Amino acid sequence: MKFFIDTANLDQIKEAQGLGVLDGVTTNPSLMAKEGITGRENILKHYLDICEAVNGDVSAEVISVDFEGMIKEGEELAALHSQIVVKIPMIKDGIKALKYFSDKNIKTNCTLIFSAGQALLAAKAGATYVSPFIGRLDDISTSGLGLIDEIRLIYDNYDFETEILAASIRHTMHVIDCAKVGADVMTGPLSSIVDLLKHPLTDSGLAKFLEDYKKGN
Ligand code: E4P
Repeated sequence: MKFFIDTANLDQIKEAQGLGVLDGVTTNPSLMAKEGITGRENILKHYLDICEAVNGDVSAEVISVDFEGMIKEGEELAALHSQIVVKIPMIKDGIKALKYFSDKNIKTNCTLIFSAGQALLAAKAGATYVSPFIGRLDDISTSGLGLIDEIRLIYDNYDFETEILAASIRHTMHVIDCAKVGADVMTGPLSSIVDLLKHPLTDSGLAKFLEDYKKGN
């Protein structure tokens, strides 16, 4: 399972990269705005800074909603750095754009996936990744994990190469559950990665080991 961090915060990206377990970064316009990154030039510069900070794919989202606009923006983003993956929304022109980029061997991440049908369509169009938003589905009392399960079954039935990128992860339980049903990638906040290492019995066990070592020395 690949681990992506879902943030535009450089310190957090560097911290996750420093752990040695990071495979990539996902961003979106809301995450960029949260870091105060506004204006096309600053946004492009920030993507470059993220690419420098991490080894792996960096999803950069287009903000156009028409085919021509998505192509223009996506090509500009892809030309920026070899690690950039063009993030395209699940809309009709987005499907066309996925096919266009797939034919040009440019990596894509189809975002805002909330149904198995959307994931099937994105795979047919040649998306590199699909991003089902599991946390947002849970928020409306619909099983996010159930959707990952459905997409896994469908992709395996037809050997689709599109990777399932479980997005909108909120906590470690989401990560573990997604790993159990075979999501290829998870993307979540730094806490969803770092908290995986925590267990009170690990802490108390280590404290006891250190205490006993001191007694004997
Ligand atoms: C995915 O690529 C999105 O950036 C993200 O996971 C959305 O998560 P949220 O529901 O926490 O905003």
